[in-house]
Amino acid sequence: MPAASCSPKIHVLPGDVVSRIAAGEVVERPAAVVKELLENSLDAGGLHITVDVKDGGLTLIRVTDDGEGISRADLPLAFERHATSKLRSDRDLASVTTMGFRGEALPSIASVSHVLVTTATKQDTTVGSQVTLVAGGVGSIVDAPAVPGTRIEVSNLFFNQPARRKFLKSATTEFSHISHVVQLAGLAWPLVHFRLTHNGQEVLNYPAVITDRDRILQVYRPAFLDRTIEVRGRIAGMSIRGVMVDPLHARSSRTPQELFVNRRPIRNGTVFHAIVDGYGSFLPKGHHPTFVLFLDIEPDRLDVNVHPTKKEVRFADTEALHQLVRQTVRHALDGSERKVVLGLTQGEASQTMSEPTLLSGARQTGVIPTTGPDSRITMKDTVTLSGIVDGSQVVFAHEPVAMYQRAEKPDVVPFGQILRTYLVAQVGDELQVIDQHTAHERVLFQRLWRGWQSREISSQPLLIPEPVELPAAQSLLLLKRSNDLEKLGLLIEPFGTTAVAILGVPVGLGKVDAAVLVQDLLEDLTEWDQASSLELRVQPVLASMACHGAVRAGRTLTLPEIEQLIHDWVQEGLIMTCPHGRRTAFRLSTDELAQLFGRVGWS
Ligand SMILES: Nc1ncnc2c1ncn2[C@@H]1O[C@H](COP(=O)(O)OP(=O)(O)OP(=O)(O)O)[C@@H](O)[C@H]1O
Ligand SMILES: [Mg+2]
Repeated sequence: MPAASCSPKIHVLPGDVVSRIAAGEVVERPAAVVKELLENSLDAGGLHITVDVKDGGLTLIRVTDDGEGISRADLPLAFERHATSKLRSDRDLASVTTMGFRGEALPSIASVSHVLVTTATKQDTTVGSQVTLVAGGVGSIVDAPAVPGTRIEVSNLFFNQPARRKFLKSATTEFSHISHVVQLAGLAWPLVHFRLTHNGQEVLNYPAVITDRDRILQVYRPAFLDRTIEVRGRIAGMSIRGVMVDPLHARSSRTPQELFVNRRPIRNGTVFHAIVDGYGSFLPKGHHPTFVLFLDIEPDRLDVNVHPTKKEVRFADTEALHQLVRQTVRHALDGSERKVVLGLTQGEASQTMSEPTLLSGARQTGVIPTTGPDSRITMKDTVTLSGIVDGSQVVFAHEPVAMYQRAEKPDVVPFGQILRTYLVAQVGDELQVIDQHTAHERVLFQRLWRGWQSREISSQPLLIPEPVELPAAQSLLLLKRSNDLEKLGLLIEPFGTTAVAILGVPVGLGKVDAAVLVQDLLEDLTEWDQASSLELRVQPVLASMACHGAVRAGRTLTLPEIEQLIHDWVQEGLIMTCPHGRRTAFRLSTDELAQLFGRVGWS
């Protein structure tokens, strides 16, 4: 037997190597340095924070704050690994309320750059401190002016990591990442004044504001807010607020899609899925939700310690979160319509955004409005309903599948049809021009959706089944799904060897062109397997059926038909888009009419 080897193969790595390995995770690129320094400034209570950058951060990153500063005794500790003023014990880790907690950022940054720190606390009335670090090595502390706050200058980033430096993109690209980081911090902290300069030029300047809305305006300009609707919901232990794109203005672009959890910018699949689910058929195909959403969760319901750069968190109760987000999004989509019915203007609605959620009498009494015909929901209640807290149950006025009866259903006075395509009517106080096809499509879709949810879609047989010739692969795909389609009221059977025939369609659909419907269905079915939920599979199919069953543009309608269609559309909630995202109506409120005719201020 060979003698046991005498020297061990395993050894503990030297401290500087450990730091550099850690830095590899935390300091991915210049923007990561900015993020960490900003978070430290915010944790220190800075109210004015300036970020100066040279050459995309490769030459210099300087973050200056007016926060609490670092005392001379603490200064060397700030650069020691696992040294933090933010946590004391394991117990604190279970409910973190600061941005930082790992005690890793400064040593990681310092190990791959040159750092100069200048700082003073409020108690340092005569002299502050300054220290230089090279590759993590702390120099001696010298005196500095007693300006309360901290300035950290990071230069020559990755000077000792040529490989990492090589992976960086151009200064312009690196700077755009930095600027995004500052925007995100800005969105999460409206009360803080942020400035960002690049090579001596001011790029961003967000003076302190009170509301989220004002900060969003600074970051994205008014055009973005004009395209959004407000979102607000709450259950016990979590709340969500913010803005998201109005489906009428949805675009194919994916930005912004910003989610903050307790002010941290986070990527999270559950929340994203819930948002997409909430939009459901409101969002046109190929369009993406865009949003700026702030989620607040009790810190002990959240694990923030799952990602080195804190880009991810883990939620204790993903199901409740999913439900909260989905229903809040859905509620906001319905709510945007309610403003019209009940006369709440966009301006009035938006004023509520950053205020704490009002709680109506319903909360105190625990009375939750039912969806029955006797429900009487007033304007006041509907505005506050999203804020009702009742255990972990999300309590909203309704989902569109079970619309409550509006307290004040608007009167409809139909005037007629123009261009054999648009219906003109007075709906409540508004003048509305309604697209007969898209409005009818929406009505049919809502009914089909409700029917599907309650498993009550029944089919009506077609008098003369129409065979549709198809390539073998396509008829196979269609027949493979025939059982699923049957549940949606669509009866399809093989017809000879090369064709399929539609034998029945859901009750309530008008005359359908079988050949075109089949083509659309084939498109929907190719995406069937990729859809992340049954709802998302079914919706496109129902939308196609609704589209094909709806009255076409160009068909003359009688006055009773016009009245019925508008009535049905109002009944379904005056939803402003068809399930494919096209507009259903154009409306002019009393105020807008008065403004158009210069009647403002005149009786
Ligand atoms: N701008 C600042 N103002 C005041 N104190 C600061 C500032 N930056 C850092 N510190 C102090 O230095 C300590 C170390 O900072 P560092 O960023 O390394 O760790 P952390 O913020 O505690 O945790 P994390 O690694 O998660 O960011 C902090 O805990 C804080 O006490
Ligand atoms: Mg930190």
